[in-house]
Amino acid sequence: MESALNPYSPGSGRRPAELAGRQDEVDAFDLLMAKARQRRPDRGIVLHGLRGVGKTVLLNEFRRQAERAEFMVVTLEGRDADGGPDAVRAKLARNLLQAGRKLNNRSAGATLKSALGSVASFSAKLGVTGIDIGVALNRGRADSGSIEVDLEELVEDLCAALAEKRSGLVFVIDEMQDLDAPLIAALLSVQHLANQREWPFYIAGAGLPNLPSVLSESRSYAERLFNYRSIGPLPRPAAESALTVPAAKFGASFEPAARDLLLDASGGYPYFLQEYGYAVWETAPEKVITLSDAQVAVEIGRQQLDQGFFPSRWERASKAEKSYLQLMAVDGDEGSSTADLATRAQKKQSSMTMTRSSLIRKGIIYPPALGRVAFTVPGMADYISRCTDA
Ligand SMILES: Nc1ncnc2c1ncn2[C@@H]1O[C@H](COP(=O)(O)OP(=O)(O)OP(=O)(O)O)[C@@H](O)[C@H]1O
Ligand SMILES: [Mg+2]
Repeated sequence: MESALNPYSPGSGRRPAELAGRQDEVDAFDLLMAKARQRRPDRGIVLHGLRGVGKTVLLNEFRRQAERAEFMVVTLEGRDADGGPDAVRAKLARNLLQAGRKLNNRSAGATLKSALGSVASFSAKLGVTGIDIGVALNRGRADSGSIEVDLEELVEDLCAALAEKRSGLVFVIDEMQDLDAPLIAALLSVQHLANQREWPFYIAGAGLPNLPSVLSESRSYAERLFNYRSIGPLPRPAAESALTVPAAKFGASFEPAARDLLLDASGGYPYFLQEYGYAVWETAPEKVITLSDAQVAVEIGRQQLDQGFFPSRWERASKAEKSYLQLMAVDGDEGSSTADLATRAQKKQSSMTMTRSSLIRKGIIYPPALGRVAFTVPGMADYISRCTDA
């Protein structure tokens, strides 16, 4: 079929033609916005799950929903390619300035101008200059140098101004588990304060399955602060929609056996569904996709994953890290106990903690519970066995 029309979207954060199986999350966020407009505060929302399940896509959807509700939206990513905590803070400041600049229109009143002054002073303190948002610094507000104090003052000032317009402030934070500890603590304490004082401030966060425990370790009240949603593979009917609806939009359909083969091969994982869907579109000569088209597509899709998705992680690992991953691969996708890994390696557990930490930092594995590690990517264990057996 025509490549230019291929309706599948394998990749990172790419909006699928059919956002299948996530209506509950979309509705939950809509409800949050509706309540906020009526000054009935509610908890923020945190999505957690493995790589490729569609967290970023959902966060982008939340961002659009918040923008439609005319909320001030500020995005942030836990990991900054260019540097550590300072780079992430600088990015936060730049995104705040940008969002603030948009608000500074003709109808902006004195409260909003003053709040934007706090954005300017917050950013100046972090050394971010050069983005003029058309207001004077609000000196003495949000510029103490303590991230916790400054975020609190910033959010308080913005919320006071936004609430007047039945609007509010949303921080959309991806890869939240990678934020540095002081910034996580500051964000949680501001969200806590906002809930108590009824400021319309909400965090919409997403991250790996260990994100809830990262948050709880930072602040014990974190578990009551958010609506936590586990994002996983799509249940069969939703996976079927994700596969068949995009094709149907172009008048293409699947023979039942072809559809079932592709659904089984993907295990319902959104990223895999997109990869196999893409491959089958490129493979099928006719608008009715046959079992033989699907068989070829699964083969091509697997090769595609083996050339991109999996090796992009494997190649980032050092020699010692690769050995660690190989030890883990024996246990499959379920994860391993760190004690078992040490026994298997005939080493002391303590001698393996550095390797373990660096793999966690690289986002290749995560600790699902104390004394356990697991792959962040579904199918990684199989891939490692495949490529190291060869
Ligand atoms: N609900 C869905 N239905 C169909 N396809 C989806 C859905 N959600 C996401 N996808 C597709 O899955 C892929 C991965 O999505 P996304 O990048 O949002 O995952 P992620 O959970 O953020 O992964 P990572 O942890 O690696 O950042 C994309 O190709 C996207 O188009
Ligand atoms: Mg993502």
